[in-house]
Amino acid sequence: MQRLSKLGVALLFVLAFGISHADTYIGTNCAGCHGQTGMGGLGPPVASKKYDLEYFRDIIRQGKGMMPGTSESELSEEDLVKVHEELAAMPWNEDEIPIAFKVGQFLSTKNTGRIFLVVFGIATLCSAFVLYRWLKFAGFGVLFPYMVRFGLIKSAWIGLKSLIVDGFLVGSLWKSNKHRWFMHGLMLYGMCGLMLGDILMHFFNPTRADLPLAHPIKSLLVLSGIAVFAGVGYVMYRYKTDRYIDNGLTLGKDFLFLNLLFHTVLSGFLSMLVNRLGISDYVMPIYIYHLASVALLVLTAPFTRFSHAFIVPAMVATTRIADAIAKSGVDIGFTREPSPGRHHKTERMAKDALAKIGLKNVQDIRIRYYP
Ligand code: HEC
Repeated sequence: MQRLSKLGVALLFVLAFGISHADTYIGTNCAGCHGQTGMGGLGPPVASKKYDLEYFRDIIRQGKGMMPGTSESELSEEDLVKVHEELAAMPWNEDEIPIAFKVGQFLSTKNTGRIFLVVFGIATLCSAFVLYRWLKFAGFGVLFPYMVRFGLIKSAWIGLKSLIVDGFLVGSLWKSNKHRWFMHGLMLYGMCGLMLGDILMHFFNPTRADLPLAHPIKSLLVLSGIAVFAGVGYVMYRYKTDRYIDNGLTLGKDFLFLNLLFHTVLSGFLSMLVNRLGISDYVMPIYIYHLASVALLVLTAPFTRFSHAFIVPAMVATTRIADAIAKSGVDIGFTREPSPGRHHKTERMAKDALAKIGLKNVQDIRIRYYP
């Protein structure tokens, strides 16, 4: 009995000693991933292991796998050494290794990289298929022999110019409505900024250590994120106010894209916030929420509203080439629709107009287009 109580006191002492000595560790965001007792969360158990200090420092500063690098401004060298000592002193308790660790293991950098490689691969293949179908509808096959006669290099140059001016710079919207161009640009250039920022991060900050807000890549990402957020908000507002927003064909897909984009940006900002505020318990769940949003956004992109980002420029470029060929004197003998989706919207507007003058249930409407 006496022995037991002695053991109890010793245990209490060890616990109290251990806890008071883990102050630095518990105050860092390490605990969010490696658990309050160091026995692992979504990251592996790190308690009671006698890591070599050099090895330990390298992992902390540069990050490892899904673990972000931690800079000196977030964890001073002094605190790093303290955390190293505290972890070594923490007891190993097999029972405390959580199931969540298995999920974390599955989401190692290697696996995340593989998952995203597959995700992007599938999305690219599907996009190529979707684009192929649209080019077929647009009569690209009919046009091609004329392109050969007109000159393939000349055609390619006209196409490329159109992809930049009509596609990337959205020239038609710029000419017709600068306000709409700006609102559209928020999403277009915001998304481009996010992609560019992510690629730059890959090269200049591979461990994804948290950068200061003033860092060029970080500010690019933050500004782009804000732009996309504002653009998404504006489109959501238009969904509420524009009576003709439903073109009768793609509303569901448009909405899916908008929502996934919303979640991607929101989870991105939340990840940053949670990291900065050191709300360690939420670091991993929110990171997983972010990865899932991005994966879904990319996987569905070929079939949602996103697809207009590659279909419309390709269609316009085809039209420009056809125009140039027609102007050069070759009779290409094919008619065209002004832009994809426009037909269905115009049809609905026409039906609505006819209903207003009392002609209800008009089924057979034909719309003709004149270039
Ligand atoms: C966002 C979650 C996260 C945070 C925050 C985090 N880690 Fe990690 N840590 C991980 C993951 C995941 C691994 C496993 C990496 C791998 O092997 O792919 C890891 C690995 C490690 C390792 C190597 C384990 C081994 O046995 O090789 C050490 C040591 C470590 N972390 C210490 C820390 C310390 C100290 C901090 C705080 C400065 C910290 N971690 C913050 C997720 C995190």
